[in-house]
Amino acid sequence: MIRRMAVLGAGVMGSEIAQTAAAGGVEVVLLDSDPAALERGLAHVAKICERRVQRGRMSSEDAQAILARISPTVDAAELADCDLAIEAVPEILDVKREVFRRLDSALPAGALLASNTSGLSISALAAETSRPDLVVGLHFFNPASVMKLVEVIRGETTSEATMVAAEELARGLGKVPVRVRECPGFLVNRILVRALVEAYRHAAELGAGLAAADRAVVEGGPAPMGAFALGDLIGLDTLGHIQRDLEEAYGERFGDGGEIGRRVDAGRLGKKSGAGFYDGDAPEADADAAGREVAARYYASALDEARRCVEEGIAAPADVDVAMRHGCGWETGPLEWGRSTEPSPGG
Ligand code: 3HC
Repeated sequence: MIRRMAVLGAGVMGSEIAQTAAAGGVEVVLLDSDPAALERGLAHVAKICERRVQRGRMSSEDAQAILARISPTVDAAELADCDLAIEAVPEILDVKREVFRRLDSALPAGALLASNTSGLSISALAAETSRPDLVVGLHFFNPASVMKLVEVIRGETTSEATMVAAEELARGLGKVPVRVRECPGFLVNRILVRALVEAYRHAAELGAGLAAADRAVVEGGPAPMGAFALGDLIGLDTLGHIQRDLEEAYGERFGDGGEIGRRVDAGRLGKKSGAGFYDGDAPEADADAAGREVAARYYASALDEARRCVEEGIAAPADVDVAMRHGCGWETGPLEWGRSTEPSPGG
């Protein structure tokens, strides 16, 4: 049982995971080498809790208890009595490899080591440690304090006991764990990022308005947000790393026509920097014909990638739909949606 866990990296994802764990009663050591990042991380946790108190979804005592359960530190020695550490540092394999080596030497024997990677190899990270059987992927979704899905990824050396402990932790935090076979992008990012890049490419080709395309995506299928607003929420720097890894692994169906990188180069990283595809929040707009074409591509490509994942045995069909519902807030999963919208054979 996990009573005390370390979260490495106090960025938005790290602090959302810390909030989730502390809300589930777990003691959290929030570790970052930058004291200013720790301060921002704690402020983010306080903001999530305040919003819940204001909405009457949490008492102020509970909010205080959550904050009290999180100990910020720059000192890896604080990991000595943790049962698990999860890293949420940038999506760069060499950075994560180095972090895994450091965590492995700071954690006690028997502690689990998890990565919140969006799709890098768990097996490669496990190979950096003296405990490859105790290394697992625990992939949360933005915003992690809200989205219920946790992908639990088994590397080549991960033991069954580690998988079960990771699933128990996720359930204990009120999440829905879904087991996913290791592959670049795992399950949900493969489906989602495929749909996002198709929308970005296609909107640029058609000269479609971003807000009109986003509206069409929301009106035309099960997703709660449009492709451009979601890119800004995830962060275009993070999305850019994922997109490049997926294009390298699977080829041009993951190409974005340079739409993400152009914004990142201009310092437009999405919500976290104040501007991304949009300057701030997305403006209101009506769907139009070009937007509807973008939306049709968005859903068709998600369905195509979902089917590929099933064919490759990455997850069972029912889990694909559960994962997209709980990871991306879709009303129905892509396979269910495909069955309900495509004409049945013979009729
Ligand atoms: N950060 C933290 N919490 C947020 C938030 C944010 N940016 N935006 C909204 N919330 C919280 C609200 O406080 C509220 O919490 P409460 O239920 O405890 O009161 C809850 O979310 C619902 O908020 P609202 O009612 O204001 O807004 P919506 O009903 O419009 O929901 C949403 C907002 C949950 C973001 C919804 O639009 C959604 O599900 N969007 C899809 C998100 C998605 O696809 N995420 C996955 C991205 S891929 C990923 O993360 C993988 C990674 O590897 C890149």
